[in-house]
Amino acid sequence: MNPSDEKNHRPKPRPLVERADAHEIARRQAEEEERRGRMSRRDFVSQCGACLAGVVVAAVGASAARVIKPDVLPEPSLSFKVGSPSEFTSGEATLLPDNQVAIFRDGEEFWSLTQVCTHLGCIVAVGPDGFHCPCHGSHFSMDGRVLGGPAPRPLQWWKLSLSPDCQLVVHADQEVPVGTKFKFET
Ligand code: FES
Repeated sequence: MNPSDEKNHRPKPRPLVERADAHEIARRQAEEEERRGRMSRRDFVSQCGACLAGVVVAAVGASAARVIKPDVLPEPSLSFKVGSPSEFTSGEATLLPDNQVAIFRDGEEFWSLTQVCTHLGCIVAVGPDGFHCPCHGSHFSMDGRVLGGPAPRPLQWWKLSLSPDCQLVVHADQEVPVGTKFKFET
């Protein structure tokens, strides 16, 4: 191979213009990547802003709802009619499971006991020897005194009255002393 051939086979240096283009392309790519990075950061920040705005709106809405809605709701009445006195049989306990009370009648005397156990609130059942709690075995006499089990207090007695239309009314928010009976003509 003569020197002129060797010279012909050496890689030709790239023209300056082409190298300048390559530099320019690389620079633009770098700028573009940086711009994309900035955009995605911007997008992230704007998305965070949108989320934060959503949270603020929800919090304000919840506070407004609290302002509009009163914290103290009116209590439902705990006084309720249970029927005419003549509907109750003398000498028997009448259980009213919907109201969780037992009504007793002895002639013209009436009294009312809750069926809610004073231990943890289970509903007691009545038997020939008093009330029995199915949950932990408390036993109450027919007038509600504790005879056994973990119940700490007697069953509550409620006030009774007669409505203008001659219905027996139980006031389950007005406790009366054990043994308090109410007399109503039937
Ligand atoms: S709830 Fe009645 S004994 Fe426990």
